Amino acid sequence: MRSIKNICCIGAGYVGGPTMSVIANKCPEINVTVVDINANRIAAWNDEDLDKLPVYEPGLKEIVAESRNKNLFFSTEVDKAIDEADMIFISVNTPTKTYGKGKGEAADLKYIELCARNIARVAKSDKIVVEKSTLPVRTAQAIKDILHNTGNGVKYEVLSNPEFLAEGTAIDDLLNADRVLIGGDDTPSGKEAKNILSGIYEHWLPKERVLQTNLWSSELSKLVANAFLAQRISSINSISALCEVTDANVAEVSKAIGKDSRIGPKFLNASVGFGGSCFQKDILNLVYICKTYGLTEVAEYWDQVIKINDYQKRRFAENIITTLYNTVSGKKIAFYGWAFKKDTNDTRESAAIYVADTLLEEQAEIVVYDPKVSEEQVYADLDYLNTRSEEENRKLVTVVNDPLKAAEDAHAVAILTEWDEFKALDWEQIYNSMFKPAFVFDGRRILDKQIMNQTGFDYYRIGEGK
Ligand code: NAD
Ligand code: UGA
Repeated sequence: MRSIKNICCIGAGYVGGPTMSVIANKCPEINVTVVDINANRIAAWNDEDLDKLPVYEPGLKEIVAESRNKNLFFSTEVDKAIDEADMIFISVNTPTKTYGKGKGEAADLKYIELCARNIARVAKSDKIVVEKSTLPVRTAQAIKDILHNTGNGVKYEVLSNPEFLAEGTAIDDLLNADRVLIGGDDTPSGKEAKNILSGIYEHWLPKERVLQTNLWSSELSKLVANAFLAQRISSINSISALCEVTDANVAEVSKAIGKDSRIGPKFLNASVGFGGSCFQKDILNLVYICKTYGLTEVAEYWDQVIKINDYQKRRFAENIITTLYNTVSGKKIAFYGWAFKKDTNDTRESAAIYVADTLLEEQAEIVVYDPKVSEEQVYADLDYLNTRSEEENRKLVTVVNDPLKAAEDAHAVAILTEWDEFKALDWEQIYNSMFKPAFVFDGRRILDKQIMNQTGFDYYRIGEGK
């Protein structure tokens, strides 16, 4: 079996950076070069101050510190890294299309195609090309078509190796993956390529956790895994609405059903709605694929997961408006958290953005505190929606770096991200600094209801009557 000496990863984002750092750390005999066209991102990966890495993940900076500039390199020299590599991971973004056919649903594969064409142009020696990005089923066919038509005699094997890490726990997920999935052709060279990639993961994972399949099962399994996970959240969120009007408690319901080993306890936390760059994008992609194959009922089934998620975000915002006597105009509302989940600086598709947008339509004044999200990011997220002018967003929204300051003279605090530090805040001081009645809307169910009520708050949380 061929041995791999040089790996190149195209795309130094939330997946490429952490995944390649772990591979380099666990495979000291392999040189790993992560390349990106975004020079600022690469500069941040190379920053001596490890707190400036472009991705915040617990445990990441320690791994980068151990391996960087030994066998882990971050570079903008894409062609050079492709040329030198035996194995090339493609880990670029695959956002939802914002134009043309499939707008709003299909995955935009232009970055993937550009990578394939770049490899085809540069490669002079045989390569194993690995799809790490999440892709519509059958994308590998397009990559093969591009690579196999260069006429320069280079042999390629295309593998699918989707990533299942979650942000905030990326390093732990990579080091202790439930499974690694490797799809490829069942030809002798395809099998050899699958075994070579398996060998890399087997540096730190037991052999039985590395699954090999055909290309299409691997590509499709990634979309299906995300759809199933998101479906659980939408299912419990739909029930949270019912709990609020029946005096059932969604946490008790989750616990009761999750004890059934056929259901299991994970991903049953009711929330203000799931966010993140992938759940919505991947389900929309699945819906689009089903539609293109004429599977209307299947498409509608999965589309409902998104509809419930939109409903949940809207419901949370509307509850704030109704509870604050049907008007939030000119009222200050403190947002605790902006990231789409705790322990990440990522805000893509965060529920906070949409809740803010609904409240801003009602002319609320929002003061945001998030321990890891910058002011520029908050404004960029709101501007991207294009609901109102950039000036208006800056007039109505302030970002502060002190949660106590955010709550001063506020009518309500809304908890949008489940950061642990929110549990440890001095809620009595917060209460004293707010307008009365002082409302707290807990979209993450992280606070103690009894203590909050005793402190004097009007405390509401998702999935429970007052
Ligand atoms: P990202 O946007 O953080 O990073 C992608 C990077 O690719 C960017 O830095 C971009 O500049 C770079 N890039 C784009 N085109 C390029 C090109 N032609 N040459 C060089 N660099 C290029 O994206 P991400 O969150 O890392 O996601 C990457 C893929 O992994 C997506 O398909 C996503 O669905 C999937 N995924 C993401 C996660 C996650 O937690 N974020 C988890 C599993 C899978
Ligand atoms: C998710 C999947 O968990 C990963 O396996 C997958 O690799 C990744 O998407 C991807 O393809 O990008 P991620 O989005 O990083 O990972 O984070 P999750 O922990 O799945 O959380 C997603 C959203 O669901 C967050 O907003 C979170 O707060 C919310 N959530 C999660 C709930 O509301 N309730 C839950 O019980 C769990």
